[in-house]
Amino acid sequence: MHAHGVKINADAATSVVKYVCEDPQAVTGTDQRDHIVNAKEGHNLLELAMGRDINIEHACGGVCACSTCHVYIEEGMDLLSESTEAEEDRVEEAPDVRRNSRLACQCEILKPGKIVVRVPAWNRNAVKEVPH
Ligand code: FES
Repeated sequence: MHAHGVKINADAATSVVKYVCEDPQAVTGTDQRDHIVNAKEGHNLLELAMGRDINIEHACGGVCACSTCHVYIEEGMDLLSESTEAEEDRVEEAPDVRRNSRLACQCEILKPGKIVVRVPAWNRNAVKEVPH
């Protein structure tokens, strides 16, 4: 039998992801703004953050059906999976969308290198503002 799981290559070069939390109290419960996380190819920016207690909001559970996991990629956009049309439509619903806006749950690390992710301050409250 051949299991077809997501296998992360043990030899994959590491990436370094820096999360910059605009409102660290809201997402981590601490005052620490910057968090450096080692990552590998195949990791997803939402799951990676959650694994390190950076609680980026994710109302839909990471299936591209909300926009609460909105983040800004300040560095390393080319190391991530490209935005799909579905993601592009969805991210438009987030407040203050910029050119480097992404939905964290839709960003998979494809190449090694340095990635800087800014977690916007209104991330948590955005959830209440999503119209039905
Ligand atoms: Fe809903 Fe990312 S968690 S779109």
